[in-house]
Amino acid sequence: MWPDAPSRLLLKNSGFRLALRSLALSLAGAILVFAIIHHAAETAWRGQLNDAVTAALRDILGDIQRNQLPVPQNVNATLAEGGGLFFADIGKDGQWEAGNFRPGPALAARWNGLQTFRVRARLALPPRVQAVRGIAHHFADGETLIIAADATALLSLNKVIARSFLAVFSIIMALGLLNGFLAARAAQRRVDGFATTLRDIMHGDLARRIEVTPAADEFDRLAAGMNAMLQRLQELMDNLRQVTADISHDLRSPLARLREHLERSRAKYQAPALQEVFAEALAQTDQALDIFAAMLRIAEVEAGSRRSHFTEIALSPMLTMLAESYEPSFTSAGISIETHIAPDLAMRGDQELLAQLFTNVLDNIFLHAADASAASISAQALGQKIFVTITDNGSGILSEESTRVLQRFVRLDASRQRPGYGLGLPLARAIAALHSGDIVIKDNAPGVKVIIGLAGGMPI
Ligand SMILES: Nc1ncnc2c1ncn2[C@@H]1O[C@H](COP(=O)(O)OP(=O)(O)OP(=O)(O)O)[C@@H](O)[C@H]1O
Ligand SMILES: [Mg+2]
Repeated sequence: MWPDAPSRLLLKNSGFRLALRSLALSLAGAILVFAIIHHAAETAWRGQLNDAVTAALRDILGDIQRNQLPVPQNVNATLAEGGGLFFADIGKDGQWEAGNFRPGPALAARWNGLQTFRVRARLALPPRVQAVRGIAHHFADGETLIIAADATALLSLNKVIARSFLAVFSIIMALGLLNGFLAARAAQRRVDGFATTLRDIMHGDLARRIEVTPAADEFDRLAAGMNAMLQRLQELMDNLRQVTADISHDLRSPLARLREHLERSRAKYQAPALQEVFAEALAQTDQALDIFAAMLRIAEVEAGSRRSHFTEIALSPMLTMLAESYEPSFTSAGISIETHIAPDLAMRGDQELLAQLFTNVLDNIFLHAADASAASISAQALGQKIFVTITDNGSGILSEESTRVLQRFVRLDASRQRPGYGLGLPLARAIAALHSGDIVIKDNAPGVKVIIGLAGGMPI
């Protein structure tokens, strides 16, 4: 009956989704930047360590070549010079021969070229050393010389980079989400403004317009365009209404004069045959006058001017009184009537028109609900709306006809022999729309269920 309420789910908000997308891109950018920084820094550090250990290996191999002394002696001599590097000489049988750290034979055998190791095993290294990067040289006789440098800084570098990345990641994430939330809220507010205005217009307040802010953004351009369209639509609707009202109005005076003329003639010419003709002509004229009166009434309600006369209405007593006043005639027609009216229902509206609305629906039960034996009136508030439901268990309305009968002059075949013009439900609908509501006709299996939704429900 009413458009769905706007979803409050953030993920359904296009502004928020857009912000999430740009957040994902910012994060991907941050990851890329950190990966590049990390790679560059690590390569530079590793290069320095590589240079140090390969230079030391070159030196010691040169020394061995020159002095032809065994490797352990050369290692001890180099160590004596200091330099901060770690040396290990592992004999061909896997025995540690010399040096200032002690990799096991397995590690020595595994060590190939330049490699970095985290220090887990006890290698007799100073405790501050958590990683080493070094080079292994395997001599032809099976002896292995390993020269390594302290690579703890490489580990710390990884840690520092990971920590800074986490900090930047969290900041981008927090700012991105905040931005998304703010963008979503701003967009939601504008869209809510559109939706509220359009709902009011749909409920008959054709003079409403969407707010245009000084920001002159895309929403404002859209609002301005829609306002121009609404203005045009309102003019067309007004024209149409005016034409209907004018025709009804202009034809009423000649019809009234014709009626007067017929009345006078009936009094003047007493012949029974003529009396019959006059009576028939008068009945037809009365019908035409009734139709024009009903059309004018609908036009007046649709024009919305009666909204300015709205007063506070105690709906519960009004419906109870209506039910009581219908009870005798319903009972004599063999129809029982029951009520379920919530107490203290109140709303702003036009008392006379609302009474007309309910009367039109109740009269239809009398006239059209063939074989009905029970009717009911119930009313309750749901949120800001009041729903009045009127049911019968008569012959009913086919579901494919349920929207058609709300249009002007539509009468179903079963009712053609009964009095009426097909204007009762359209007037009821126009009155509901004047009260920012609507009418739906449903199958009561058997019979008809008329649900009248009215806005502005508030308990007193
Ligand atoms: N309770 C009902 N049971 C069966 N048919 C119904 C019922 N209410 C309405 N109808 C059908 O809907 C049609 C339209 O109703 P509506 O009140 O607009 O016009 P009407 O009663 O025929 O004439 P009017 O109300 O202008 O005197 C009716 O002619 C009838 O066919
Ligand atoms: Mg009717």
